[in-house]
Amino acid sequence: MKTAVETQRQVNRQELEQRVKNMYREVALHPEVTYHFEMGRGLAERLCYPGAILDELPVPAIESFAGVGYHFDLAQLQEGEFVVDLGSGSGMDVFFAAFQVGKAGKVIGIDMTSEQLSKARKLSVDYGFRQANFIESYIENMRLENGSADAVISNGVINLSGDKARVFQEAARVLKIGGRLVLSDIVTSVKLPESISCNATLWAACIGGAMQKDDYYSLIEESGLRVMEVKKNPYEFLSNSAKGASRDYGIESISLLAMKK
Ligand SMILES: C[S@@+](CC[C@H](N)C(=O)[O-])C[C@H]1O[C@@H](n2cnc3c(N)ncnc32)[C@H](O)[C@@H]1O
Repeated sequence: MKTAVETQRQVNRQELEQRVKNMYREVALHPEVTYHFEMGRGLAERLCYPGAILDELPVPAIESFAGVGYHFDLAQLQEGEFVVDLGSGSGMDVFFAAFQVGKAGKVIGIDMTSEQLSKARKLSVDYGFRQANFIESYIENMRLENGSADAVISNGVINLSGDKARVFQEAARVLKIGGRLVLSDIVTSVKLPESISCNATLWAACIGGAMQKDDYYSLIEESGLRVMEVKKNPYEFLSNSAKGASRDYGIESISLLAMKK
C-alpha cells in the first residue's frame, strides 16, 4: 500500500504544473467566468472577511480571489511584521496583510503563474501598496532567507502542490522561531482513490491533490512546526462533480495555525 506522500509524488508533475497555470491564468484574466469553485467578494464575505477592510483593497484583486477560508483571525498580524503569502494569485490576501502590517511592515507574495503576478504587481502600484511585493517562484523552493518571516500565510494553494512536505519544510525554514504558519486549504476525511488523485484536471480544481487531514497535520509537524488550532470553513465547491467528490470523500476546507518551535 502506498503512503500518502508516495501517491502525491506519482502525479505527472509537468502536466500538473501546466494545468494549474492554465487554470489560474484564466482566473486572473477572466474572473467573470464560472469555474468549479466560487470566487470574488461574495465568497470572501461568506468566508467572514470583514467588509470594512475589503473596501480598502483593490477591487480587481477581490474579483479574482479564489481562496477557501479566512485565517487572518488566527494570524493576528501586527504592525511592522514581515509576512509571506504562498500562492498569492491576484494578491487579495497580500493586500489584506499589507493593510494590517501597515507601511512599516512588508508582505511578499509568491506565485508561479505570470498572469497572476502581473495583475498583482500592477495593482500594488496603482493602489499605492508599497509594502507589498510579488516574486515569481515555486512555493517548494522559495528564494527567501532562513528565519526571516514573522508569518507565512497561504489560501487554497498547498493542495495543488505535488510535494507538500517540501512546502512545509520551506515554510518552517523561512519562519523565525515563534513565527506562525497560518493557512486555509482543502483536506479530506479519507485518502482519495488513485482515479481522483492521479487526475490532473481534478487536481487543478483543488480536489485531486487534497490530502487526508491527519496525514496533512503530520507533515506540518514533521517540518518542525506545532499545529495549535484548526477550524472548519463554510466553503463549498460549485460543480456537481466537485460536490459529489466532496460528499464521497469528506472533502472540506480548514484553516489552521501552526507555530515554529
Ligand atoms: C487557488 S489559487 C489561490 C490564489 C490566492 N491565494 C487566492 O486566495 O486568491 C492558487 C494559486 O497558487 C499558485 N500556485 C499553485 N501551485 C504553486 C506552486 N507550486 N508554486 C507557486 N505558486 C503556485 C497558482 O498559480 C495560483 O495563483
